[in-house]
Amino acid sequence: MANKLWQKNITVDKDIERYTIGKDAEMDMYLAPFDVIGSMAHATMLETIGLLTTAERDELLSGLRKIYGQIEAGEFSIAEGVEDIHSEVEMRLGDVGKKLHSGRSRNDQVLLDLKLFTRYKIQEVVLAVKALFDTLQAQSERYKNVLMPGYTHLQIAMPSSFGLWFGAYAESLLDDMQLLLSAYKVANRNPLGSAAGYGSSFPLNRTMTTQLLGFDSMNYNVVYAQMGRGKTERIVAQAVASVAGTLSKLAFDSCMFTSQNFGFMKLDPKFTTGSSIMPHKKNPDVFELTRAKCNRIQGIPNDITLIVNNLPSGYFRDLQIIKEVYMPMFDEILDCIGMVKSMMEQITVNENILSDSKYDYIFSVEEVNRLTTEGMPFRDAYRKVGLDIEAGKFTPHKEINHTHEGSIGNLCNKEIAALMNSVLTQFPFDKVNAAEGKLLKS
Ligand code: ARG
Repeated sequence: MANKLWQKNITVDKDIERYTIGKDAEMDMYLAPFDVIGSMAHATMLETIGLLTTAERDELLSGLRKIYGQIEAGEFSIAEGVEDIHSEVEMRLGDVGKKLHSGRSRNDQVLLDLKLFTRYKIQEVVLAVKALFDTLQAQSERYKNVLMPGYTHLQIAMPSSFGLWFGAYAESLLDDMQLLLSAYKVANRNPLGSAAGYGSSFPLNRTMTTQLLGFDSMNYNVVYAQMGRGKTERIVAQAVASVAGTLSKLAFDSCMFTSQNFGFMKLDPKFTTGSSIMPHKKNPDVFELTRAKCNRIQGIPNDITLIVNNLPSGYFRDLQIIKEVYMPMFDEILDCIGMVKSMMEQITVNENILSDSKYDYIFSVEEVNRLTTEGMPFRDAYRKVGLDIEAGKFTPHKEINHTHEGSIGNLCNKEIAALMNSVLTQFPFDKVNAAEGKLLKS
């Protein structure tokens, strides 16, 4: 029996079949629920333009609903030799399934699936990032009075605080969230109806599928809609890479600050691993793996660029390979965000770091500023303190008073949280989820 949608009278070579299907049986499972939702919108629209009878539409919708249920229940897979999710779903629908593909190509179908998948996954990442943001802000408030050394060139520099340290990573996530919002907006346009990339002679109602699927708008130009494959994934991967960049820096700081030579922070032993030879070891492997995983994620925009680089307009099978680097990225980043959140909740800080005299010189600028406030010109004060240090005559005043916005004594966590909320309210999750929910009940 033919298991290809396009199979006519030539038998397919097994080795070529293996090579061209590649990892699609695995990758397309990520797309499965979205392929069904997209087909529900397409079938609903086809009935309104007379390409399906009402009875045929209803039969298709109920078949699609059943498949959706199987996917949700984990009772669905793509059969051996079936090319992809699009073929599997169509073949499961039986005879009426043969009418579903009018005015559609797998090219716009996979584009649509990817957009729906991407919206769903960005939503998960956004919620996870917000949860981590809240944890970091809470820790920042909790430890706002605990000082630590700040470094430049990894040389002790000036007083910093755990309030600043935790709060800095929260604010970094604010900027990452901004990129996630932009990426979401790029993904949230409907490519369905672009068909193979040049539209269709059927009078498709693209406005209708756009509304049914809760999209912001469509990708109007059918040629551009196809050019969005690869471009959308790259943009989204860039936003995810930005989150990953925040996490890998946090992970490196944490590894360093928990080492004995710093001793600034302590990990709950349950987050550490032991050594097979050194009985005393409690290693921060979780942070190290986070660092490496997040560094790898930061390479994904580049991987995608290299896959699609210099392709002319129009569909190419090259695009299939993007799925292999793109789809697993979301589970990886979600795992990392979740781990970092648990660790940041558990981590405890050393309240007395600065009682060690090796950090005394971080107060040198405080002393210069104190003399300057008393009327000595800054450059003279700088020189005096410098000479005192050289002569071993410097005594630090450890009471510090930083008041300006974003400084140790005035973290502005509330302002940062307000900015975060203003970004969050711009994600149209409610509209999108309501549209998909309604379609699934139709
Ligand atoms: N597996 C294919 C992909 O991901 C689906 C589209 C196939 N289209 C085609 N013209 N061969 O790109």
